[in-house]
Order: sequence, then C-alpha cells, then structure tokens
Amino acid sequence: MKLVVVGTGYVGLITGACFAEFGYETVCVDKDKSRIDKLKNAKCPFFEPGIDGLLNKHLNDTKLLSFTPSIAEAVEDANVVFITVGTPTKRLENDADLSAVWDVAVELSKHIKDYCVVVTKSTVPVGTTTKLKKIISKKLDLNKFDVVSNPEFLREGSAINDFMRPDRIVLGTESKKSENIMRELYRPLNLIETPIVSTSIETSEVIKYASNSFLATKIGFINQIADLCEKVGANVQDVAKAMGIDKRIGSKFLHAGPGFGGSCFPKDVKAFVNTAYKHDLDFSILDAVMKSNEVRPTNIAQKIIKLKNFKQGNTIALLGLSFKPNTNDVRDSTSIKIAKEFIKKGIKIQTYDPQGMKSAKSILKELILCNSAYEACRSANCVIIATEWNEFRALDLNKIKEKLKDLVIFDLRNIYNPSELEQIGFEYYGVGK
Ligand code: UDX
Repeated sequence: MKLVVVGTGYVGLITGACFAEFGYETVCVDKDKSRIDKLKNAKCPFFEPGIDGLLNKHLNDTKLLSFTPSIAEAVEDANVVFITVGTPTKRLENDADLSAVWDVAVELSKHIKDYCVVVTKSTVPVGTTTKLKKIISKKLDLNKFDVVSNPEFLREGSAINDFMRPDRIVLGTESKKSENIMRELYRPLNLIETPIVSTSIETSEVIKYASNSFLATKIGFINQIADLCEKVGANVQDVAKAMGIDKRIGSKFLHAGPGFGGSCFPKDVKAFVNTAYKHDLDFSILDAVMKSNEVRPTNIAQKIIKLKNFKQGNTIALLGLSFKPNTNDVRDSTSIKIAKEFIKKGIKIQTYDPQGMKSAKSILKELILCNSAYEACRSANCVIIATEWNEFRALDLNKIKEKLKDLVIFDLRNIYNPSELEQIGFEYYGVGK
C-alpha cells in the first residue's frame, strides 16, 4: 500500500513517520517548500521524543518515507491519502477554520487517478468529511474514491507511543471497500489486540470532539473541586485518588492544576460548543468548562500576587513554559498566561524551560530566560512550578534554597510533598490542598 499524508504539522509528521515504521511507503506533502527541504534532511520543526530517530531511519535507511511539496506527484499512485492540515480557530469566531482542508480537496480532485481512500485525520467538525466528498466529486468520479473519518488521539510528548499502542482506532466509513482498506492498514495493531470501532462518518467525527471535550471537562471539574478543597481544608489529590478508584470514574485526567492548554483542548471544546449552537443546542456544560478554564490562570496569578503582596520590582522564578512536559509547544500555555499577569504588574519573570523558551520569548518578550532552574531562582521572591517536566520533579531543593531570596514555592502541578519542603524551610502552596 502506498500512503500519502498531506500536511506536515504535528499530526501529519507523526502519522507519516509511524506508518513508515509499520512498513508502508509513505509520502508526506506540504505546500511550505522550506519546511519540506528541512524535512528531507530529517530536521523536525518541533520537539517530540522519538521523532528524530524515526525520520532518520525511514528517510535514510529504509527509504520508506519521503517528502514533497507537490500533491500532484504524491497522489498519482496513492492508495490512501490522509489529510492532516491545520484547522485553527477562526480569529473572530469559535469555529474551526477549514480553508486548508478545502484547498487540499480541490487539489486531490484534480490529481487522483485510480481508486483512492481520502481520510480526514485532522480534528474536523461533524459534516466536514461529507463536505469534502462533495468538493472532490465536483471533478472526480464517485467510483474513484471514498472518504473516511479516522481521528487521531495523539498526545504531545507521547505521540509515537500513542500511535503505536492506541487505546482504540475509530473508523468512520460509508463503504465496505474503504473500511476493509483501513482495517488492512491498521493490521499491524492486531497483534496488540487494538479495538477497532467502525461507525458512520458523522459518528466518528463526533467521537473525537466528545472524547477531547470529556477529558477537558474532567480537568475543569477537578480544578473547581481543588478550589473548594482549598476553602474547606480538604486535599484534592486524595479526593481525586479515591474518586479514580471507582472504575466508572477512572483516575486519569483528574490532576488539578493551572487549567488545560495546548493546541487541542481549548480549540476543540470551543469548536464543539459552536457546532451545538449551529444546531440550536446549548452545550452549557462545555461552555462552563471553557469559561472556567479561561479565567483560571489569571485567577491563580492574582491569588499569588495577593497572598504574598507582590508588587513592581519583585522577581518570580517561573519553571516551565510549555503547556505540558516533553514538548516545546507553548500554544495556549497556562504558564505564559500566568506570566503575562505578573508582567502587567511590573513583576520580573526569570524563567527556565527545557524546550519551550524560544517560542515563549517570541510571544512574551519581557521573559528573562535562564539556563537552568537554579539560575531562574537567583534572588527571586518565590518559585512557581508551572509545568511538570521530569527535571523539576527532582530539583536539588537545598540548591534552590541557596538561590532564592524568599523561601516560597507555588507548586501548580502538585509534584512535591508539602511536609518535605516545609522541613527544609519552604513556605509551600500546592493546588487544592
Ligand atoms: C490532547 C488529547 O489527550 C489527545 O488525545 C488529543 O488528540 C489531542 O489533545 P495534548 O493536548 O497533547 O492531547 O495533551 P494532554 O496530555 O491531553 O493535556 C492537555 C492539557 O490538559 C495540558 O495543559 C495538561 O497540563 C492538562 N491536564 C491534563 C491537566 O491539567 N490535568 C490532567 O489531569 C491532565
């Protein structure tokens, strides 16, 4: 089988590299020529554990992976084409901007020659895959292609493992022929007995949004429980642990913190709420999740400022800028939102992140970048742990103590044991405890 992946963003590159790892000849396409030139030299535009190794292996050793800026050239003899172009939130609305998907559809309609399965893998609102079919069919005979919805569930930082060992594969199809091709494609996962859920196209599209929105709701829920715990003297970690033992609830995504960020949850929840509005439905639950998440980082920053009476001239050490560990992605990062609030008040931010500093600085030029967590703590009035990178879990606390001016720690990811820190002399504040 020959595969084509159109769009070499995060999802596209992971998808392309992983299908090559499965053993398929895979061509990745992007209209950005300079990006393609870099990729041809195995230069990945983002940080993701394991991706460099896969790119190198399949570009240079197996030669199963290749890159081109030309859709026409790539799709000529393709069996399956994945669309993985960006679907950002439109500037003035909460809707997903699908213009890149439609552009690809027009291109495909001109260049597909033999029967081919066209798959939407980017997160797209319900109805998109069917509209895609309409656009392609303006130029291409209906017996020359089928459309399929096959959403991804990749988490940044562990995307390769998520691709290789998924909890499930969702296939939204409308013909047995395309379903069989997709099942064949994912045959390497039979060995680990990955469940395949076959549905209609619309159901598959909804599954993706419903899954992400549910996870975001879990986080939003536990964060508000955390606020209550702080008021009543309870401990949210113990609450979450006990809740999670109940199999109907489950323990995952119940970690209280500064709110969810990243390129998916905020965008997807907004787009899902918008889909509901368009159908005269009020997704009040998700609306509340979004609203509470939007104000959370600012509220946390203001709480810290009030608690320690921070003002102009104070310095804060901020550890972690990426929206989560193991990525350099700072899109919708709660850490940056918190930093902005401090900077507005004239407070200096000395910061360190293992991967996210360059992109964070381009968004917030006032950040003072440091070479290590310890350097960031130098003469600071407190330290805030905003992202739970492994290296922040094992800090030399005595060294941190030497560097800080005031021994105050705000552990926004609850990674430290309060009594341990208090013994060393720190004033400790976690979330929800
Ligand atoms: C998410 C989904 O998990 C993935 O399936 C989907 O396809 C893409 O979106 P990702 O955005 O990479 O993946 O990160 P994820 O690990 O889900 O975390 C999202 C945000 O929620 C982060 O800001 C994280 O810090 C936060 N989070 C997560 C919490 O605050 N608490 C938790 O318990 C879990």
